[in-house]
Amino acid sequence: MRIKHQLLLTIFISLFTLKVRAQSDVAGAFTFATSQTSLMLIEVAKAKAQTTNNSLVVPRTLDKNGNLVLINSRDWCSGFFPGELWYLYEHTKDAKWLTEAKTYTAFIEQEKTNTTTHDLGFEIYCSFGNAYRLTQDPAYKAVIVQAAQSLIKRFNPVIGAIKSWDNVKIGKYPVIIDNMMNLELLFEATRLSGDSTFYKIAVTHANTTLKNHFRADNSSYHVINYDAETGKVVNKITAQGYADESAWARGQAWGLYGYTLCYRETKDKKYLQQAENIAKFILNDPNMPKDLIPYWDYNVPDKANQPHDVSAAAITASALYELGTYSVNGKSYTSTANKIVSNLSNYRAKEGESKGFLLLHSTGHLPAHSEIDVPIIYADYYYLEALTRKQRLHDHQPVIKQ
Ligand code: GLY
Repeated sequence: MRIKHQLLLTIFISLFTLKVRAQSDVAGAFTFATSQTSLMLIEVAKAKAQTTNNSLVVPRTLDKNGNLVLINSRDWCSGFFPGELWYLYEHTKDAKWLTEAKTYTAFIEQEKTNTTTHDLGFEIYCSFGNAYRLTQDPAYKAVIVQAAQSLIKRFNPVIGAIKSWDNVKIGKYPVIIDNMMNLELLFEATRLSGDSTFYKIAVTHANTTLKNHFRADNSSYHVINYDAETGKVVNKITAQGYADESAWARGQAWGLYGYTLCYRETKDKKYLQQAENIAKFILNDPNMPKDLIPYWDYNVPDKANQPHDVSAAAITASALYELGTYSVNGKSYTSTANKIVSNLSNYRAKEGESKGFLLLHSTGHLPAHSEIDVPIIYADYYYLEALTRKQRLHDHQPVIKQ
C-alpha cells in the first residue's frame, strides 16, 4: 500500500514539475522577447534616422553586414512587426506595447486599398486583425473589411482562386500555397460585415487548392499556374523550393496553418482531414531532423550543408496548437508543438544582439540567393503566436482569444 502511495506521489510531483517547467518556458521566452523587442524599437529608430526614405517603416531581416533591413508597408512582411507588438501587449498587458502596437499598425493602413497583392492577409490580418481582436476598436474593423474588398478583386470565378502574383515570368495566373494564409482576412471580414461574399470566396479558394495543390503523399506543390480562360491547371512548379516535385518546408507549414484555420471557420471536416494529412507528412517525413526544425526544403540533397528554415518550424508549432484543439490526435499535436517551441529556444539570438530579432536561422528564398540563414520577422511573429497559444491552453482558455 505504502509503495502504491509513494508511486502516486512521485507521478503527481513529476507531472506538477513538468507543468511548472512548461509554464516558465513561456514566461522566460516572453521576458526574452520583451527585452529583444525593446532593443529592436531602438534599432528601428536608428535605422530610420539614417535614411531619407520615409516610407521605410518596419523591420524585416538583417542584411549580409548585419544591418537592419527596413521595409515599406507594401512589402508582404509589413504586418508582422505590428503583430508581434500586439502579442507582447496581449501577454504583458503593458501599456508601452499597446502604444507601440497602435503606432506601427497605423503605418500599414494605406495597404487596405492595394489590389496588386494577394498578401493583404499577412499585411492587414497580422496587424489590424490582432488590433481589432484585442481592442474591438471599430476603426480597425473598417480597415479589415476594406482590405478584404481589395483582396477579392483578385479572385477569378472560372478558376475558383485568388491570383498570387502579377507580371511574373513563371505563369499568367499563379496561385501559391502561401495564399491559404490570406483567407483568414476574408473569413474575418464576413464575420465583421455580415457580407458572405468574402466567406464564399475563401471556401472556393480552399477547395480549388485542395483539389490541385497536393500530391498523393499530402505534400504540396508551391505554385499552380492556371489558365484564366478555361480554369485548367497549366503546370505545377516551385518558385522558392528546391525542385518542382520537392516539398518546400515553409510551404508545407502554410498549408497546415491554412487548412487548420479553414476548419476553425467552417467546421467542414474535409479541411480538418487535410490539416491532419499535412501534419502527418511533415512529422513523419524521414528528412525531418530530430529536433523538428526542418531544413529549408524536405527533399534537398546534402542536408548537412543546407540551411534550416526556423520560420517553418514556428508556423508549424502555432498551427499544431490550434489543430490540437480540434483533432482526435490532439494530445500528440500539442505535445509536438511543445517540443518545437522548446527546441526553438536553441535557435534564439543572444540577448542584446541581432538588432533585437528573436530567432536566427530562417531561410527566405534560397533559389533567389535571398535571406539565407538569417533572422526574419515572420519567424518571430509565429514564435510569439505559438507561445501565446501555449500559454492559453495551459490556462484552459480557448487557443485564440476572440
Ligand atoms: N511568400 C511568402 C513566403 O516566402 O513564405
